[in-house]
Amino acid sequence: MSDGAGLPASPAAERNKQAILDVLVRLWPGPRRVLEIASGLGQHAAHFAAARPDWRWQPSDANPASLATIARRCAGLANVAAPLLVDVRERPWPVSAVDAMYCANMLHVAPRDCCDALFGGARERLGDAAMLVTYGPYFVDGEVPAPTNLSFDADLRARDSAWGIRRLDDVVRAAEAAGFELAERVAMPANNLLLVWRVAPGLSLSA
Ligand SMILES: C[S@@+](CC[C@H](N)C(=O)[O-])C[C@H]1O[C@@H](n2cnc3c(N)ncnc32)[C@H](O)[C@@H]1O
Repeated sequence: MSDGAGLPASPAAERNKQAILDVLVRLWPGPRRVLEIASGLGQHAAHFAAARPDWRWQPSDANPASLATIARRCAGLANVAAPLLVDVRERPWPVSAVDAMYCANMLHVAPRDCCDALFGGARERLGDAAMLVTYGPYFVDGEVPAPTNLSFDADLRARDSAWGIRRLDDVVRAAEAAGFELAERVAMPANNLLLVWRVAPGLSLSA
């Protein structure tokens, strides 16, 4: 799919961007410096930054080929910085401190160690009061998985055996190892979850 400007676009990102923005506006009512990990084609960056000029958005991705698309899509948005090449596994990340981080749809399209790396890297770049938001599909122990998520998971694993929808409990464990706790879980359309992660009390670096 391509958008009106001829830029490649993900249909899923077009469908989910407003629902995600509605939650982020509640979570971040005022100005924020936000680092986005795994910006992909930049659709979320462009949509969110256009809606909220008081958010300063730093897009990034591990795929060098994505950066030009992100830059073109966000051209004209003064509050979007030039996209950075950031692979969560290569730390320290080449970014300055931010107030918040956002990462959508990466954990299941990347090897398992990227989950540990995301939380570890986030802890290095976020202050004690900051927040990390992740979005995507997860399998939740004790809940019947949606058939669409089961087939999506099978498709991912067929494409790359290191990919796949993560168990929420495993993600929580990775987060806790890095000093985060799950502060909020928001059910989103199409069997996705938006998860809010905060630094666990007693684990703040300044404590
Ligand atoms: C499915 S796309 C999601 C793009 C966008 N966030 C969205 O929701 O539409 C997954 C993205 O994760 C990125 N990615 C994969 N491994 C990564 C890593 N190790 N570090 C950072 N980004 C990574 C890919 O390059 C790709 O852009």
